[in-house]
Amino acid sequence: MHGHPHTPVKRGRNLHSHMWIMGLVGIAAGLVLLIYVPKLTLVSKSLLLFAGFHVVGGIVVLSSLYVTTLRGLVRRWTKAGDRAEQGEAFDFGWGPGWMNGLAIAALVSLAAAVAIEVALPGLWPAAFLLVMAAAVFLAGNFVMSSFRRPDHVVLPMVDLVRGDQDLVLDAGCGAGRTSIALARGLRAGRIVAVDRFDAGYIDDGGRKLLARNLRLAGLTDRVTIEAADLTALPFPEGRFDGAVSTHVYDHLGDRKEQGLREVVRVLKPGGRFLMAVWVPGWTMFTVANVLSFFLTSKASWRAMAERAGFKVVDEGAFNHAWFVLLEKPIAAEA
Ligand SMILES: C[S@@+](CC[C@H](N)C(=O)[O-])C[C@H]1O[C@@H](n2cnc3c(N)ncnc32)[C@H](O)[C@@H]1O
Repeated sequence: MHGHPHTPVKRGRNLHSHMWIMGLVGIAAGLVLLIYVPKLTLVSKSLLLFAGFHVVGGIVVLSSLYVTTLRGLVRRWTKAGDRAEQGEAFDFGWGPGWMNGLAIAALVSLAAAVAIEVALPGLWPAAFLLVMAAAVFLAGNFVMSSFRRPDHVVLPMVDLVRGDQDLVLDAGCGAGRTSIALARGLRAGRIVAVDRFDAGYIDDGGRKLLARNLRLAGLTDRVTIEAADLTALPFPEGRFDGAVSTHVYDHLGDRKEQGLREVVRVLKPGGRFLMAVWVPGWTMFTVANVLSFFLTSKASWRAMAERAGFKVVDEGAFNHAWFVLLEKPIAAEA
């Protein structure tokens, strides 16, 4: 690696030595908070108890209000802010309610820990575990909020495109985040964006937002929208030069392999499929907790893809996800 000729480059340990100091100070401060603060008698126990239960109660009431009535208002309010700041912005339909569940879980865990520590100090190990859980929830919330950013990069740079005129399938396009990113790398190529448009976690299932986002991106002429199920694609064999899909095939339950088989069918021989999914690991543990253990592993994805008729060309880690580049072998044509 070479630095810019006029830029002095600090090398080795010096560059990050302050991080060690910050880390050690953080660990010490955290331990003081965890071990010493609950023992403080200066702070009235009843005051802590009052605070703990009221924080839990307040969160429960606000969350319920939000889910039942306030959701639309909050969305309108945050959208109004977006528009004022950025002019016409893309909207991929991730409502704030779906993305802040982990922050709410963190607050509830913390409040419950306070309440336990004061009311039932003998159960301090439970309070300790709740504080740990709160830390994990908070980390997960940071990961989830990065997904909400409209400038979140959704596709890794891989060898997917065959020519300037490719026709590429976006399988499970949602409100169009992937289609828009893909169009930027496709030159004059075209995209068919397919989805069932019934996901509860995307506002309006994404259909209207997709049309609006494509219009804002100036892509209406290059992207065709098609409502269909990925396990029974309404296209003839060998229709597409390539395909992409981000965060979709892990939603197909026990029909994942069938979904992959369908992509093999509609690809031309030699055509490639770039798929990104969440797989078990530390990042996903923060996001989905024990549920992350039930995510399909990389090894199972590879095995399924191979059974479906693909060969694995490339794979890697990307923005908390795992991506794999699959190819329909030319021999499969015969
Ligand atoms: C998490 S979203 C991802 C959307 C988009 N690819 C992105 O990264 O922003 C998953 C999408 O997959 C779609 N989907 C899930 N199962 C499907 C199926 N069987 N057929 C078609 N679409 C499906 C959902 O409707 C949803 O839009």
